[in-house]
Amino acid sequence: MYVSEKAPAKINLTLDVLYKRDDGYHELEMIMTTIDLADRIDLVDLSSNTIQLESSSGLVPQDERNLAYLAAKLLKEKTGIKRGVAIHISKRIPVAAGLAGGSSDAAATLRGLNKLWQLGLSLEELAQIGAEIGSDVPFCVYRNTALARGRGEMLTPLPPPPPCWVVLAKPVHGVSTADVFRNLRVDHIEEHPSAQAMAQAMKDKDYEAMNNLLGNVLEPVTMNMYPEVQKIKQKMIQFGADGVLMSGSGPTVFGLVKQEYRARRIVNSLNGFCQHVFAVRMLGYLD
Ligand code: C5P
Repeated sequence: MYVSEKAPAKINLTLDVLYKRDDGYHELEMIMTTIDLADRIDLVDLSSNTIQLESSSGLVPQDERNLAYLAAKLLKEKTGIKRGVAIHISKRIPVAAGLAGGSSDAAATLRGLNKLWQLGLSLEELAQIGAEIGSDVPFCVYRNTALARGRGEMLTPLPPPPPCWVVLAKPVHGVSTADVFRNLRVDHIEEHPSAQAMAQAMKDKDYEAMNNLLGNVLEPVTMNMYPEVQKIKQKMIQFGADGVLMSGSGPTVFGLVKQEYRARRIVNSLNGFCQHVFAVRMLGYLD
């Protein structure tokens, strides 16, 4: 038996930090959506009670430190199933980029194993298990558009954003989310984005409002650690994107553009300034 699952990346249209919690995590309010850039997860059933993992990218761990491996291990523990799996990850999403690549691989592994092993779990149950792996995994289980609260695991679905193109630009270095949160001074946040107003823009399919409301309180923190992020943002604005923001804890910067030819032009202009540059469609959800 064999199952293949698509593991799409996400971007944050808003990301706000409300306060630091007693458990060390930060209470968040953010709107995330799904874009047309994905890893592929292939799962092959094994009769032996083992988990094997290999990835097309040398940049991700090929053992139990990989979130997809953790997902398989946790699912086996929760269900008591005594079967094994060989996981192969075809990596296209840049690593440590703020695009939830690792979380999406874990979520796709949960969805795929649910089919492969015929576990009959609901998406809600898979999301609950996913929350134990990482804060973004529940969102990636649903791969839609949502308002996320709590650590990121309390999700309210939203309508997809208006159709457009997303230009993504990632500097060479990756960023540790934990480092960015450690450097954040919650009492020093100058401007809080409005998730409510952004949610309304989604409902109204208002592309212009969506661009005006983009905001991420982690952006100045990561820019302070890696000034290159600011330079890429400036270039993306200069080259004509309608709205520009860093995704998650970064360092990937995305620009929204209505027409494909303008997205391609920005990609051409950015080539040479940073390592990874793509233009993909905004999806909003993946069935
Ligand atoms: O949940 P996850 O393991 O993906 O988070 C990585 C790190 O990011 C956490 O260890 C924590 O330092 C930080 N984090 C946080 N508040 C959140 C989510 C993540 O402080 N809501």
